[in-house]
Order: sequence, then structure tokens, then C-alpha cells
Amino acid sequence: MAELRFDNRVVIVTGAGGGLGKAYATFFGSRGASVVVNDLGASRTGDEGGNHRAADVVVDEIKKAGGKAVANYDSVEDGDKIVQTAIDAFGKVDVVINNAGILRDKSFARMTDADWDLIQTVHVRGSYKVAKAAWAHMQKQGYGRIINTASAAGIYGNFGQANYAAAKLALFGFSNTLAREGEKKNIRVNTIAPLAASRMTETVMPPDMLAALKPEFVVPLVAYLVHDSTEETGSIFEVGAGFVSKLRWERSKGAVFKADSTFTPASVGAKWPQITNFDKPQYPSSIMDTDWVGLLEEAKSLDGNPNPGELRFDGKVAI
Ligand code: NAI
Repeated sequence: MAELRFDNRVVIVTGAGGGLGKAYATFFGSRGASVVVNDLGASRTGDEGGNHRAADVVVDEIKKAGGKAVANYDSVEDGDKIVQTAIDAFGKVDVVINNAGILRDKSFARMTDADWDLIQTVHVRGSYKVAKAAWAHMQKQGYGRIINTASAAGIYGNFGQANYAAAKLALFGFSNTLAREGEKKNIRVNTIAPLAASRMTETVMPPDMLAALKPEFVVPLVAYLVHDSTEETGSIFEVGAGFVSKLRWERSKGAVFKADSTFTPASVGAKWPQITNFDKPQYPSSIMDTDWVGLLEEAKSLDGNPNPGELRFDGKVAI
């Protein structure tokens, strides 16, 4: 099989001064793309920034290997400036890899508004701002590829990461809507939940595991997804240490209730085994994948709902 190349493509990689972003940027640089190496030079928690060296080192590396690259030091919050760098240096933008990120891990009890807001700002608003600035160019040229970076913490939840998990899964919904809106203009948008050794993970993983988790092992999937020949869109993948897997939603067959006054909390409890039974699952992939008309018909045909009594909430305070 021939090598996948990115000649004449302009690729923006955010947070490309280290970790996964650096691995993407150097790869695209080695396969013919013109690369915008964005990095603010932030600390792991985003407290400090402004170290131009992070992006400069990667640009030098790409150029020394014969590639084309330019540095950008803006925060992803100023996504329009990052896209402008691509336009000024290379005349267009074809691919956006939204990768920049920070952590502010704390148990939810100890999390402050600042911990919450900063994580949302960098991950969600940052990805939005870069994609938003690139979008008009992509629509106009009828071509675009965007990767947004989620996390297993967002998909499954992880202790101490309520802020990060919320932001990361927000990006999945964001991607899926862009995938639909970009469909006719050949703009493909996918999400990855990577696992790789970086300064983000070095404190939470044992050394032998870190050795198997090279950022380079996330690159092949990302490069495949943003190649001209790839039609995949609106999907999410787990990737790391040589493992690549697509995730999808699974919905139980569920239970149908007659929508009248007999539809009570206790009747939900009575059908709980059905609601949570995955023997005959469905795999919805679109908002249209629910047969509301059929479900309404089925509900109408029911005589009533199970009536095992009343669930009471005495003594509880609800907001
Ligand atoms: P990293 O900390 O090595 O790299 C992140 C880069 O983003 C840094 O170079 C930093 O300076 C830059 N950055 C931070 N804030 C920025 C801003 N406002 N504007 C521009 N650049 C900024 O982290 P790593 O591990 O390479 O992570 C890359 C992405 O992958 C992040 O979005 C992270 O949340 C995600 N991720 C990583 C996992 C892993 O196992 N390493 C697991 C799940 C998700």
C-alpha cells in the first residue's frame, strides 16, 4: 500500500510544542504538508505561558528535516490569529488538529470556579475558536478535515476530573454537529480519545506503561482520518499504544409506557429490567434513528401501566 502523503495541504496543530501535538506536527511536516505549529508554551496547569521555545524547537526540527513549518504562539482562545498565521504563511487551511490542552485535576468537592472555567475555556472555547475561524475557508474551498481531542475521562468519568471530563465530552457533541454541517462541503470531523505518555500522564502512570505509550502511536489514526481519501466523519475513536478502536452508542430495546396518569415513577421501577436489558440492542447514530411514530402506536395499544404502588419522597429536599 502506498504511503499516505499530505503534499499541498496546510495543517494547523494546536499545542504542538510537546507531547501528542509535537508528534503530529513533525509527522505532517515529514509527509509534505505545510504545518502551523501552535503553542502558547503553557505549563501543565495553564498557570504560566509565553514560552516561545516550545513551538520554535518543533518548527526547527521540521525545517531541518526538509519540511515546511511556521510557529504561532497565540492561545487557542485566539483561534482566529492561529488561522490567520496559516493564511499569511501558506494561503489556506485544510486540516485543523485541535489538540492543545491543560489539566486542573481536583476532587469535585475541592474544585473552584477558576478550575472549572479555565478547563472549559482552553479545551471547549479554544477548539471552537480555531474551528470557527477555519470553517469559512474550508466551506469556500470545499475541503476540510478537523480532529477534536476528547478523553477516556470524558467518556467514562474519572476521579478528580469533573471539569476536564465535562469539557472533553462536550467536544464530542461539537464534532458530531460539525460533521453534519460540513458533510456537503467535504469537511470531515472526527474525535479521538488518545492515551499517550506525556507530561500530562507522567505523574499518573508507572514508567513501564509510559514506555509503551509513545505519542507516535496515536499519529497513524489521526493522519489517516485527515487524509484526502478518508470519508469517515462524526466518529469517535480510542487510540494508544498500538490500539485503535471505534466507539458507538448502544441503546437497550427499552420499555414503552402508556402516556396517561398511570405512568408513574413506580411503574418505571416495575419495568426496570426491560429498560436496562441489552439483549436486543439498537445502535442509533443519528437524531432520526428513533421511531417515535412506531413507539407512540405501541404505547397506544397498551391497556395501562404496571401499578406496584406509589414511590414517596417524604423527608427529601429537592431543588
Ligand atoms: P501536553 O501537556 O504534553 O501538551 C499540550 C500542549 O498544549 C502543551 O505544549 C501546551 O503548552 C499547549 N497548550 C496548553 N494550553 C494552550 C493554549 N491555551 N493555547 C495553545 N497551546 C496550549 O499534553 P498531551 O498529553 O500531548 O495532550 C494533548 C491533548 O490530548 C490534550 O488535549 C489532552 O487533554 C489530550 N489527551 C491526552 C491524553 C494522554 O494520555 N496524553 C489522554 C486523553 C486526552
